Amino acid sequence: MNFDKAINVEDFRRLAKRRLPRMAFDFIEGGCDDELGLRENEAAFAAYRLLPRYLVDVSKRELATALAGQRFAAPIGIAPTGAAGVFRPEGDRELARAAAAANVPFVMSANSNGSIEEAAAVAPEHSWFQLYGLKDPVIIADKVRRAAGAGMKALVLSVDVPLHSNRERNRRNGFTMPLRVTPAMALQALLHPGWTIDYFRNGGLPPMKNYSPYAPKGADAAAVGSAFASLFPAPALTWSLLDDVRRLWPRKLFVKGILHPDDAVRAVAAGADGIMVSNHGARQLDRAPAPIDMLPAIRSAVPDRVEITLDGGVRRGADIVTALCLGANAVFIGRPALYGAIVGGAAGVNKVLSLLISELEMVLGQMGCARTADLGPQFIIMPDRDRARMAPPNNGR
Ligand code: FNR
Repeated sequence: MNFDKAINVEDFRRLAKRRLPRMAFDFIEGGCDDELGLRENEAAFAAYRLLPRYLVDVSKRELATALAGQRFAAPIGIAPTGAAGVFRPEGDRELARAAAAANVPFVMSANSNGSIEEAAAVAPEHSWFQLYGLKDPVIIADKVRRAAGAGMKALVLSVDVPLHSNRERNRRNGFTMPLRVTPAMALQALLHPGWTIDYFRNGGLPPMKNYSPYAPKGADAAAVGSAFASLFPAPALTWSLLDDVRRLWPRKLFVKGILHPDDAVRAVAAGADGIMVSNHGARQLDRAPAPIDMLPAIRSAVPDRVEITLDGGVRRGADIVTALCLGANAVFIGRPALYGAIVGGAAGVNKVLSLLISELEMVLGQMGCARTADLGPQFIIMPDRDRARMAPPNNGR
């Protein structure tokens, strides 16, 4: 199937799986430990029911959304995903280009292959930068300065990787750093010639360009990878990291990877403008709750002015509606955007975005709600589980 014929995110997932060698697809797709969280992220959405209202004029549906001081086409953005250049040559640039074309935000990963400056050149109005805490505060400060100097519109500080997690798919596939090519990998590469030819035509393993300045001069991709591995993760970091970043960063600041309402309160007290409710796509702590289940409690815990986004398991327009009803200002997608980039570059990402946006628009109409801004808990039936206790009050939104 060509991606033009894809009608939903799952079609893109299958196409991406077909194109990539197993080790690469598994890297994207995988969770950790038993992958319970991975299943839960998607299943949790399906436990909520949307309650429609009728005889409401829904001839025009309004999706435009304000976020981080900007007006976007819809309440959706592209989450940061590291190593995109391994899966698609210039993958980061393709994601950035797609975001600009669709007028949605693109968060460049700290661990991207493209550089901050490249994202800023391709999508100057739509690029945000995601930062990880590192073992060296001087390098953290330099990255923040570079992101500010390049004009990144917002900074996203991800706090949910204190340590590497147990990603068993990668271990079984030998897809770990430093990478050693095994006969099984070579066979996989031969069986997926489309990806393999592209990969080698573009010079093989791409460097993590945002770390190149901190590696020895002229370092190749592997040496840059070693420099990165010496800096990250940084398990001794504490909340003072956020204070330091807040002092250095002049524009909107989001903290990503928050699941506990008290952490959201703490981040806001330290000056965060927004909270990204996320469990890192269930890649870090397998028994963590699904982000959608923590959203109501987090929304209630912080003032209305604090913007909240959600990512993890968003695969349908109805998932977006559910998140907005429970208090998110917008959602972000990780894997679905990568599937699009893998099978069709920027055009593929745009197709994924437009499928989700048109599903969102259709569900809005079905529910008798003409504007995403009018969504609220009055449109939701909470699941009959522990989650029900977290139902927000019906405040008429
Ligand atoms: C990620 N994610 C991630 N998050 C982050 O803050 N920095 C990063 O570098 C990465 N890298 C990364 C790589 C890959 C391959 C995946 C799949 C994910 C997490 C990402 O931003 C987001 O939280 C999840 O992907 C959202 O879940 P879905 O949409 O993939 O279900």
